[in-house]
Amino acid sequence: MTASDKPNSGNTDTITVIDNKNNQRLDLDILTGEMGPDVIDIRKLYHDLDYFTYDPGFTSTASCDSAITYIDGEKGVLMHRGYKIEELSSQSNFIEVSYLLLYGELPNEQELAEFEKDVKRHSLVDEQLIRFYNGFRRDAHPMAIMVGVVGALSAFYHDSQDISDPKQRHLATIRLIGKMPTIAAMAYKYAIGQPFVYPSSELSYTGNFLRMMFSVPAEDYVPNPVLERAIDCLFVLHADHEQNASTSTVRLAGSSQANPFACIAAGIASLWGPAHGGANEAVLKMLIEIGHKDRIPEFIARAKDKKDPFRLMGFGHRVYKNYDPRAKVLRDSAHDVLSELGIADQPLFELALELEKIALEDEYFIKKKLFPNVDFYSGIILQAMGFPSSMFTVMFAIPRTAGWISQWHEMLGDPVQKIGRPRQRYIGHGPREYVSMDER
Ligand code: ACO
Repeated sequence: MTASDKPNSGNTDTITVIDNKNNQRLDLDILTGEMGPDVIDIRKLYHDLDYFTYDPGFTSTASCDSAITYIDGEKGVLMHRGYKIEELSSQSNFIEVSYLLLYGELPNEQELAEFEKDVKRHSLVDEQLIRFYNGFRRDAHPMAIMVGVVGALSAFYHDSQDISDPKQRHLATIRLIGKMPTIAAMAYKYAIGQPFVYPSSELSYTGNFLRMMFSVPAEDYVPNPVLERAIDCLFVLHADHEQNASTSTVRLAGSSQANPFACIAAGIASLWGPAHGGANEAVLKMLIEIGHKDRIPEFIARAKDKKDPFRLMGFGHRVYKNYDPRAKVLRDSAHDVLSELGIADQPLFELALELEKIALEDEYFIKKKLFPNVDFYSGIILQAMGFPSSMFTVMFAIPRTAGWISQWHEMLGDPVQKIGRPRQRYIGHGPREYVSMDER
């Protein structure tokens, strides 16, 4: 079978699939987006020609229409609702960006104030949910706790699970964004054996989170404004990223009309893997394993060795084949945080910067367009601020909740949405007779 371009007929471009095997052909419409590559509408391919398409990892497949986030991986561009990430990270804040993702426009002063108040009012969790934590081992990974506790929200908030009711959907949205920092900080406090800290509406979203993480009853806690801003910037940069693995997981779970808490728990599970959100934790483990800058060449050589499964964590990206624009912003933020804390010359950070320098100059990494990604710098920032590496992926899950839930809303409102059900190329046995036990 071959596909060939066909000139425009009328105002619709088409592409013709020519099936030489069965001597048949089919015109498929080419749909144009606002920006980015056009897409070939293959919906009638199976019906008309009895073919599936084959695209493991969905590298060439658009799974939906979306108006939320745009990425141009070749040019290193990331935009939410048309606004560039560089402007949002320097001029906006996480609460405003969440509003933008959810509702499509920047809020006016009153809209922002109401939204923020609403989110803060829903930051407390049900007291009964606190008992859940006691069921976990103290050394449980916080992401394991996040998957469990966020999924368990479905058992507590029955009044926000009817997805056909816009009011309930809104309530679930606000609850998820509001409670996520609380649930995350509680996972940390539980691990270190300190009392849970209740949220405070007096502080900003990130200031409150830092307080729930790092304050203890015996001392007053005032968030450091530089660190508070750095975390807010990190949250803005992680708020959404188009149809990545965890977002697609949320959409797929939601396509069966599962409740929003279950869908977000599914997204957290998907985010956990080291090839996705787990990479920032893996970066730190790798830096500790490298240990000294003299050993960098050894690890670079391993990363290039086809027989060695080792990869340089924090380098490379499925979509960005130029530079990850979020990494650029975070690189500056990392410098601000390290100098604010007076630890810019700590060996681990010197090692990270040396690794970045060497990898950026190395022919293999240049040729394969493997640049430091957002996880490379987020790991450094979070380590410097005192977050244990097990919390790094949690720090990704908190802000990504705003993106997941925005994408979930968009999916539910999409008139062409159906339950997600990919097909397969079957390569197993053909039909055969059952073999009884005594003949095996
Ligand atoms: N170190 C060494 N080589 C690498 C790396 C790396 N980090 N990443 C990719 N490569 C090589 C691959 O071996 C492959 O080489 P080949 O063409 O000779 O076979 C080539 O570059 C392309 O790699 P793919 O795995 O095909 O690229 P893909 O787009 O599927 O993978 C991924 C992207 C998963 C992010 C990959 O670069 C990786 O594993 N990086 C390390 C983990 C990481 O940092 N993940 C965070 C991603 S960002 C995020 O989730 C927010």
